Amino acid sequence: MNIILIGFMGAGKTVVGRKLAADLGYNYLDTDALVEKTARQPISEIFAQRGAAYFRDLETEVAKTLPDYDGFVIATGGGMVLREDNVRWLKQSGPLILLWAEPEVIFQRIKHETQRPLLRVPEPRVEIERILRERRPIYEQAADYKINTGKLSVKKVSEEIKAWLKSKSN
Ligand code: S3P
Repeated sequence: MNIILIGFMGAGKTVVGRKLAADLGYNYLDTDALVEKTARQPISEIFAQRGAAYFRDLETEVAKTLPDYDGFVIATGGGMVLREDNVRWLKQSGPLILLWAEPEVIFQRIKHETQRPLLRVPEPRVEIERILRERRPIYEQAADYKINTGKLSVKKVSEEIKAWLKSKSN
């Protein structure tokens, strides 16, 4: 089994994923890193040079391989669950845990980063709100469990996921 983290950028998928993997003795995997490896290009360049649709197709190719893994915490790109087919592959790989936070929290966490193609816009705060409004039902529909990471430490989020996994296995 694997554990799949879904949700918007800045919700904590990477930091929580690494911590949870360490706590459980699992490996850690990041679908953005797999896409970059396949394309031999950073995500920002894939978007800039080949476009978003090309990136999404690569992401789907990566999603198809996820049921082949075992014993991994898998952090997914924020747009991964937008395609229903991807969600099917993810669900075959493990339970989907949604990490989310209020738009303002996301903005504060990522405002200094420059590598996020979707937020290279004049008003990133407004853009975060817009995308989250659009995606929230999709994230929630896909999720088996959800956690608001806004006020929790990474350690606490990891503990909450472990408690949920335990309750499910009983
Ligand atoms: C995206 C999120 C990014 C990355 C790409 C598109 C999105 O991943 O896959 O820039 O559509 O939300 P992170 O959520 O890991 O930043």
